[in-house]
Amino acid sequence: MLSNRTLSWQAQDAAHHLHPFTTHPALRGRGARMITGAKGVYLTDSEGNKILDAMSGLWCAQVGYGHEELVEAAADAMRTLSYYNLFFMTSHPYATEMAAKVAEKTPEGISQVLFACSGSEAVDSAYKLIKYYWNLKGQPGRKQFIARERAYHGSTVVGASLSGLTGMHPQFDLPLEGIHHVGPTPHHYKFGGDMDEEAFTDLCVKAVEDKILELGPENVAAFVGEPVMGAGGMMPPPKGYWPKIEAVCRKYGVLLWADEVITGWGRTGEWFGSQYYGITPDVITMAKGMSSGYVPLSAVALGHDIADAIANGDEEMAHGFTYSGHPVACAVALKNVEIMERDGLVGERAMPRHRYFQERLASLADHPLVGQVRSVGMLGGLELVADKETKTFFDPDMDVGFKCREHCFNTGLIMRAVGDSMILCPPLVITNAEIDELVDKARGALDLTAKQIGRM
Ligand SMILES: Cc1ncc(COP(=O)(O)O)c(C=O)c1O
Repeated sequence: MLSNRTLSWQAQDAAHHLHPFTTHPALRGRGARMITGAKGVYLTDSEGNKILDAMSGLWCAQVGYGHEELVEAAADAMRTLSYYNLFFMTSHPYATEMAAKVAEKTPEGISQVLFACSGSEAVDSAYKLIKYYWNLKGQPGRKQFIARERAYHGSTVVGASLSGLTGMHPQFDLPLEGIHHVGPTPHHYKFGGDMDEEAFTDLCVKAVEDKILELGPENVAAFVGEPVMGAGGMMPPPKGYWPKIEAVCRKYGVLLWADEVITGWGRTGEWFGSQYYGITPDVITMAKGMSSGYVPLSAVALGHDIADAIANGDEEMAHGFTYSGHPVACAVALKNVEIMERDGLVGERAMPRHRYFQERLASLADHPLVGQVRSVGMLGGLELVADKETKTFFDPDMDVGFKCREHCFNTGLIMRAVGDSMILCPPLVITNAEIDELVDKARGALDLTAKQIGRM
């Protein structure tokens, strides 16, 4: 029986609160789970349950929850400069220093940064700035954008349009014109059929090249992709994919835009997924781990050519937000990066922890429901299948992933389900003991799922 306090919050919530990406009658039926606190890798709910958050919220909490140094950084910034904007020829040290930090950590060639508050705003900003760039370059015909089936780029009008999750479009009359999605989705296990991996890579890259040729290279503004597809199901690309995509973009003068909202800021073991895959994008969008989610902050970072074209333009760049580069958000982000550097959460010093996470996760491959275990850095995925030998997927109506997610919740673990892909993205500070706990709880939830569907 839930406490009166929880029941009262649930009633208020049901009466007044529209939740993102939620089927509201179902939520009202069961009542929202109220999260009331968080520390390190654990959440606490209103009933006092402690839950290991293997999703870092929504891929956010790089340094874990409740880190006192971030709390102090935010409080100091609030005392010093609670707010000021960056319009009208002004700046403040927090935004200026954070812009320089972004330029330092992103791949060679990135030189200018525009701040926003969410991943979607960064994506919208990138889309607009890319159009502006081509106008400035005297190539106004380049207005077509190529994205990928099952991509996720946010939920604003542009973000949702670029997203290749088709369920996001009909409710809102999207996608916008001029946005194209190519398939197959570049993930070998799920979409490669019997092809060998490199042949599948070539097929995926050729699909992009064919789309450029179909649209006419002189009409194509940019190709956008997540270095590792996240919200679509934690799907790393097939071998050699990114350098080949980069080569195709260069061949036709198409801008390469890496949407690193998930893969940025240490998630892959490098500062950015682009470095992990050895590419040099023209545009990078980022958010989430940038501030460990403590305060909303995002950015679009631009390579020299685009940055120079815009920065040297005589006219006003008519784009930006009231909260672009908010002092508190930038102060938190600067401290967040300092902690990641000091505590070895990225690069060589982070490798033992990443390896331990990956090895322990790989131990779940022997479970009867697990067809594939995949990992990149501190990102993990388990593909639940009906038959491992024949790689037969479950009938989606069985909702196996959803069932597993419920068992995780009930055993004190947050693991997300995208269809039958179970996704993990723990805080980068997770300890080996906590990784053990995560894997033990995941196995327990898999066992319960297997029993529930009669496979054990
Ligand atoms: C790659 C990518 N782009 C954009 C977004 C949108 O970010 P937000 O929810 O902060 O708008 C997300 C969110 O998960 C994302 O994964």
